[in-house]
Amino acid sequence: MLKANRSVAVGSAVAVLLVSAFTLSSASAATDDAGRRGGPGHSAAPQTLGSLGKKAGLRIGTAVGATALAEDAPYRAKVAGEFSSVTAENAMKWESVEPTRGTYDWAAADELVDFAKKNRQLVRGHTLVWHSQLPAWLNDGDFTAEELREILRRHITDQVTHFKGDIWQWDVVNEAFNDDGTLRDSIWLRKLGPGYIADAFRWAHEADPKARLFINDYNIEGVNAKSTALYELVTQLRKQRVPVHGVGIQGHLGVQYSAPHDIADNMMRFDRLGLETAITEADVRMPMPADSTKLEAQAEGYGVLLRGCLLTPGCNDFTVWGFTDTYSWVPDTFPGQGAANILDENYAPKPAYGTLRQTLTLAAGRH
Ligand code: G3I
Repeated sequence: MLKANRSVAVGSAVAVLLVSAFTLSSASAATDDAGRRGGPGHSAAPQTLGSLGKKAGLRIGTAVGATALAEDAPYRAKVAGEFSSVTAENAMKWESVEPTRGTYDWAAADELVDFAKKNRQLVRGHTLVWHSQLPAWLNDGDFTAEELREILRRHITDQVTHFKGDIWQWDVVNEAFNDDGTLRDSIWLRKLGPGYIADAFRWAHEADPKARLFINDYNIEGVNAKSTALYELVTQLRKQRVPVHGVGIQGHLGVQYSAPHDIADNMMRFDRLGLETAITEADVRMPMPADSTKLEAQAEGYGVLLRGCLLTPGCNDFTVWGFTDTYSWVPDTFPGQGAANILDENYAPKPAYGTLRQTLTLAAGRH
């Protein structure tokens, strides 16, 4: 398992200075910079987010859209070149893999797994149990509790078995909580009660004992009612020896809200429980149109998330939820907002990209 080995603790003051001093960089600009410094030990190899992350002790990942991966060559090249882990944005969700009851379609997900193998990337599996993106036969079916439990057991077992050995981390349970810390109303909670969570982890572990099993949610970056409820749940699960190994912190931020500057305090409490952590879906949206002030605030948002991870020894992955504004989920869900990713629609880097690079460079030590 990738373990953190960080030589520099990155303080927010340092990173804020870096943000303001930042000039747009790219992989080749970084190479030039390394070349100018020169001298023994300075590599001229192009540095990517993935390669910098490895030196800093963590994977840097992206969510990947199946259609873009198949049809957009520059997109494909960026996924291959820049990142060291990948997550299927939609292709492993229930409605994608089992649109008809009992008939699985693994094609798009298998494509991504093959792509990742070719490019020596690890795969985060997303997601086994969620209230959203369920197929109609499941949403509309009037199943008894016993039937539903068996449907869930079989789905988890079949999916984890299909990908056995290929998935590094599974988001076993996704978005189980409301913001006030109560469990979210869903077909799972309604019919099966809160025990569905422990069951899901046990079934997943049986199917692939080597996969690292995560519970994943949004709005749990800082210390708040939701992250505290999740902390209490995983504390209980660990006491009951339920195989939960990690907490995924999605990291969907917006420049109009204050950034979660207490993220390291929050992540460290999970770390002290012996859990792995990961930033699983980082993006920072903004009211459109974008301007330089909003882009700087966005860079700071990404920086806060990355620093939280770097300051937490067991945080082993930092995944962005897409890397180009071309394919972002944001404008559909939040009309009037957008520009949430680290590259713009022409794949040009935004200040946020530079903040990630420079923060990782600091964390990796000079080389
Ligand atoms: O597949 C259909 C396609 O057949 C149809 O033609 C098209 C027409 O709109 O819709 C396609 O489905 C869309 C799907 O993405 C695949 O592109 C859905 O409408 C759309 O709602 C769906 O959105 C996804 C969303 O989850 C669903 O809740 C986003 O792409 C995806 O980025 C987003 O990801 C979630 C994470 O899984 C969990 N955390 C929050 C995050 C953002 O919402």
